[in-house]
Amino acid sequence: MKKKLTIAVIGSGGREHALAWKLGRSPKVEALVLIPGNGGTEPNIGIDIADIEALKQYCLGARVDLVVVGPETPLCEGIVDAFDGTGIRVFGPHKAAARLEGSKIYSKNFMKKYGVATADFAVFGGADDPAEMIRSHKGKVVVKYDGLAAGKGVYVCSSEEEARAAVADIRAKYGENANYLIETKLQGQELSVIGITDGKSINCLLPSQDHKAALDGDKGPNTGGMGAYCPAPAATEAVLDAIDETIILPTLNGIEAEGFRYRGVIYFGIMLTETGPKLLEYNVRFGDPETEVILPSLKSDLLDLILAAFDGTLGDIEPEFSENYFVDVVLASGGYPGPYEKNKLITGIADLAADTLCFHSGTKREGEALLTSGGRVLNIVCNDKDLKTAVDTCYREIRKVSFDSMYCRKDIAHRALGE
Ligand code: AMP
Ligand code: GLY
Repeated sequence: MKKKLTIAVIGSGGREHALAWKLGRSPKVEALVLIPGNGGTEPNIGIDIADIEALKQYCLGARVDLVVVGPETPLCEGIVDAFDGTGIRVFGPHKAAARLEGSKIYSKNFMKKYGVATADFAVFGGADDPAEMIRSHKGKVVVKYDGLAAGKGVYVCSSEEEARAAVADIRAKYGENANYLIETKLQGQELSVIGITDGKSINCLLPSQDHKAALDGDKGPNTGGMGAYCPAPAATEAVLDAIDETIILPTLNGIEAEGFRYRGVIYFGIMLTETGPKLLEYNVRFGDPETEVILPSLKSDLLDLILAAFDGTLGDIEPEFSENYFVDVVLASGGYPGPYEKNKLITGIADLAADTLCFHSGTKREGEALLTSGGRVLNIVCNDKDLKTAVDTCYREIRKVSFDSMYCRKDIAHRALGE
C-alpha cells in the first residue's frame, strides 16, 4: 500500500479551512498542517507565507509530501518553481503559467491567441492615450490594472468620465507608466467554474456563484465575496457545453501549446451574456468563498483528484457530487470592506446543527476565546435537496452565532431563487 501523506495547506482564510477539512477526510492523509491557518484550524504553523524559502525549509524538515496553496501570491511568486527538485509536490502552476492570473494583459493575450471567448480589449501603458477607445464605447468599458491588486484593480465604468477617472487612478496608484487594459463591458450573470487539471484533462467541480458586493441586491462596494452557492441553476447543460467548447477546451490547448506543466486548479470567472459565455478572468487557485460550497458538495476524495493531476491520470476519474444544493453565507465585521474593528468575542458556534459547516475566515484564538481578526469572519454552510430550504436553514443557523457588529447579506442565492 502507498504510504500515507503529510500535507501542508498554505493560507489563512475560509478557503484554506475548507481545503483542510476536505483533505482531512481522506483516508490517505497521515498528517495535515496549515501555514499559518486561523482560529478554526489546527495545527497551525506560524510562518510568513511571503517567505518561500522559509516555507521550503519547514516542509523539508517536516517531511511534507504535498503542499496545497490557497492564495495566488505564492504561486505568482514562483513557489512551485522553488520546490522543483525537492521531491515535495506543490499543487499549482509554475510561475510562468501563474501569469494567467498574475497579469491581466498576459491573460487576455493568451485568450486571444487560443481563441477563448472573451470581451474585446486593447492594451495601454506609458504615453498611450485611451481617449479614443473610451469615447467609441461611450465609457461603457472595464479598465483593469495589469498586475495583482487584491480585487481592487478592476473598474467597471458607465460613463466616459468614470473611465477617465479609472485610468487616472491606476496611474496615481501604480505609476505613470503602469500597464492596463480596457475591455468592452459585458452584461449578464456571473458563474465560477473551478476545475482540477493535469494540463491535458480537467475535472470541474460544481458550477457556483459568488456575491461580490457588500450589500443586498448587489449594492455597495466590492468585497472578497459575501457568500456563494452551488450548483448554480444558471449553468444548464447547454451553458456548460458552450463553456467547454468556447472557453475550457481552447484554454487546455493553450496550456499544452505553451508547454506549461500545469498540475493545479484553474478557475474560470465567466459572464453568461446574450451572445454566449465569455471569460472574464482566470485564477490559478480555488475561489473564496466558492471553495466553501464546492468542496462540501464533492463526494469523491479530493486527494485522489490532486494525486491524479500529478500522475496525469485525471482523465480516468469521474468525480461524484452530492445531489444537494450548498449555500455559504459569510458573516462579516461591521464596516468591511472599509475599516472595521477586530478582537470581538465570537459566540454560538457550538450551538450549530451537526450538519451545518462553519469555516473560519478571519478568526483567532486567545486562550479559550475565539475572536474576530478580519473583515470576513465566518462562513456558515448548509445544504438541502431544495435550494430555498438550504438558504432558509443557513439564515436560521446564523441566528445562533454572534459577535459585536456582525453583518451578512440577507439575499445569498437571490439570482437562482428569482428574488
Ligand atoms: P476580474 O478580476 O477581471 O474578474 O474582474 C472583477 C469583476 O469585474 C468581475 O467579477 C466582474 O464583476 C467585473 N468585470 C470584469 N470584466 C468585466 C467585463 N468585461 N464586463 C463587465 N464586468 C466585468
Ligand atoms: N471569489 C472570487 C475569487 O476567489 O477570486
